[in-house]
Order: sequence, then C-alpha cells, then structure tokens
Amino acid sequence: MSLSQIAKTINASPTLALNERAAILREKGDPVIHLGGGEPKSKAPMDAIVSAASLLNSAEVRYAPADGIPALKKAIIRYTEEFYHRLVAPQNVIASGGAKQAIMVALQAILNPQEEVLYPSPYWVSYPEMAKLCGAIGVPCLPEDGTFYPTIQDIEQRVGSYTKAVIINSPNNPTGAMYSEQFIADIVDFCEKRDLYLIMDDIYHRLIFDNRKTISCYDFAKNLSENSKLIVINGVSKQYAMTGFRIGWAIANKKIIEAMTNIQGHQTSGPSVLLQKAAVGAINGIQSSVEALRVTLENNRNVMMDYLNSFEGVHVTKPDGTFYCFADFSNYNKSSQKLSEFLINKVLVLTVPGVEFGMEGYLRLSFCGTIKDITEGIERMKWALDPNSPNELYIGDRKLVRDWS
Ligand SMILES: Cc1ncc(COP(=O)(O)O)c(C=O)c1O
Repeated sequence: MSLSQIAKTINASPTLALNERAAILREKGDPVIHLGGGEPKSKAPMDAIVSAASLLNSAEVRYAPADGIPALKKAIIRYTEEFYHRLVAPQNVIASGGAKQAIMVALQAILNPQEEVLYPSPYWVSYPEMAKLCGAIGVPCLPEDGTFYPTIQDIEQRVGSYTKAVIINSPNNPTGAMYSEQFIADIVDFCEKRDLYLIMDDIYHRLIFDNRKTISCYDFAKNLSENSKLIVINGVSKQYAMTGFRIGWAIANKKIIEAMTNIQGHQTSGPSVLLQKAAVGAINGIQSSVEALRVTLENNRNVMMDYLNSFEGVHVTKPDGTFYCFADFSNYNKSSQKLSEFLINKVLVLTVPGVEFGMEGYLRLSFCGTIKDITEGIERMKWALDPNSPNELYIGDRKLVRDWS
C-alpha cells in the first residue's frame, strides 16, 4: 500500500500499546499488574463532573471557538497568575485536546522541515514522533555526567544552526527528575540569547515531592514582550486525574497562539466544549484532590524506592515528582525490550522498556497504581529475575514454576 513518507516513519505510541495489552490480558482473566501506566487512578474532581453535567443536561452541545471557550481561557489565565505569577491575555491562551495536542500544534506552528528540536534524554516518547510529523528532526541531549539532570553545557553542545526549539519537561517523564531553579533560569536565559523557542512541558508541575515548590519559567524571563519565544504547556490530565477528558493548553505570544489556532481549527476545531466545561470546573473548583493525589504519589514513591533499593543489581534514582521511576536493570538484561517482554510473559508485570525513552538497559516503572500493585509487581519481578528465587510462585491460585535460569 502506498502510504505517505511521514506515515511510514511514525511509530505507534508504546505506552498506549501497553495499555491495550494490559486491557486484553485482564479481559482474558490474567492477573496482570500494570507498572507501565501513565495515569492516576483517583477519580476526576466532582466540580469537573458537575460543570460538564450541567451542559450535558441542556442537550445543547455545540461547536466552540477553535482556541477554547472564554470560560476555560479565563480559568487558565487565573491558573497562570497563581502558579506562574504572570498575567496573560485571552489571546495568549489556546486550549487543545490534551497537552499532547498543545505541544504538537505548537511544534507545527514553529518548525520547518529539517529544523531541529532539542530535548534532554531520556525523553517523553512522543517528542521524536511529533518532530517527525513536522518533517523536522528531534535531537535528544544526554547529560554528560550520567545523571538525569542536564546542564546548560549539555544543551549548548547540541545546539547548531538548525536548532529552532528546545523542549524542557520538568518534572520529567520517564525519570521523575525535577530540574533545579538554576537550570530553568539558565535555559530561559540561553534560549532568549540564542533566539530559540523554549517549550516548557509542565504537565507534572504540581505533582512534586519532598516540599519542592512549583517553578515558573517566567520568573527568569527578561523578555516578557509579545516577541517572547517562551511557550508554556500544561493541562488537567495528570494533576486532576482527568486523562480521558483530553484538555491541555498552551500560553505563548499572540502570534504563536494565532498560528496554533489556525492549525487546530482545521485539525479538530478545538476540543469538545463539554470537556472544556469539565476542565473549567476542575481548575476553578476545590483543589484538595490535587494535594490528595500528590501525597498519595509521594507515599507510593517511597514504597517503590524501598522495594527497588532492596532489589540487588537494580540501580535507581529517587524521583522528585511525577509518578514514574526509571530504574537501571542492565545487570539483568542489556535489552530493555527483551526484559520487558520476559516480565510480561513470565510474571504478568507490564513495564515500559527504557529504549522507548532513548535509554537502553532501563525500565520505566509507574507508581500511580495501588500500593499492592507496586509491592506485588516488584516481588514478582524479583522472583522472575533472581536466580536464587524459590522454584514456585503463587499468583492467587495460579502456580508459576520457574523453568528458566
Ligand atoms: C511529558 C508529557 N507531556 C505531555 C503529556 C500529554 O498529556 P495529555 O494527556 O494532557 O495529552 C504526557 C502524557 O503522558 C507526558 O508524559
């Protein structure tokens, strides 16, 4: 079949594929533990549901402006004032179908074919594919010191004449690393001086631990005019446990937002008004669910660290935020893909291979599930990987026999 050049280069989302695999296994009745997930298990805030329900009850659900309904823009403006200490105008805001679409449309608005967009490695699985969708090139930038924390020198070394934009995702998927205030200040300054677009993917910015405070890139920007090339991405998916509502947004200068609106207008006409209403409810409503989620995740993180630290041969860096940790399993298998396959086949534990995030030998393990998922999942992994494990393991009334070495 004759497909487009772009279509031929785009890989399926490995994380979405894993969700499907988990669902299929569960349907078969297999006691699978999904440590590969990317969404909190708590319920969406009641304010979101009530807000959407009131529109649904009217039975009049119509087209909305392509850049978002005024009520959502107003809520995002207030949110930006609270968390970013910056007052923006409605023309600086666009609501999209998740942070994912906001990033995609931003890239389409700024990238030409062959231009480069740079991001620290390991990176979110969608950045390279999004660059390809623009005919552009994604350039991963691995910190030289072997940590998950890039320095400005790491970035500087990879910037060339084709570099158009930098994406910073902090706290980071897959590592959970939250970059320092100094690094954010440096990267804002660097991009301003080099006239580069800087996309701040802040989707996890409130899900941070150990008394860390959210960081606003605007606090370090010298250029806050309508020429600023700073693009801030956020959304309701993670912090409000509203992944299925598909509402995210971008804040940028008016020209960028206008270009993004034109593009989005022809792609989707903007996100559903019903789901925008839900997002308004969440953003303007009682915020206790965000803190409850944050506290739960911090506790889950601690449990996962305890279990992983007692896992001989596994090296792990404590996540500062998000609900992921990125652990080095290369002592067990250099191929993260093979290791991940082995774990699902032998003990029904789903993990995401590090290679999907640009780093071999690692697995991304999520701690957004229950404590039981975390503890039992890691116990099963230990049983499968430790040659000194007992010969048998019971999962419920299912007996597994260790017939590998
Ligand atoms: C780093 C990062 N950015 C953006 C997104 C997309 O978020 P949304 O569900 O709002 O599209 C995700 C989701 O996994 C993510 O991990």
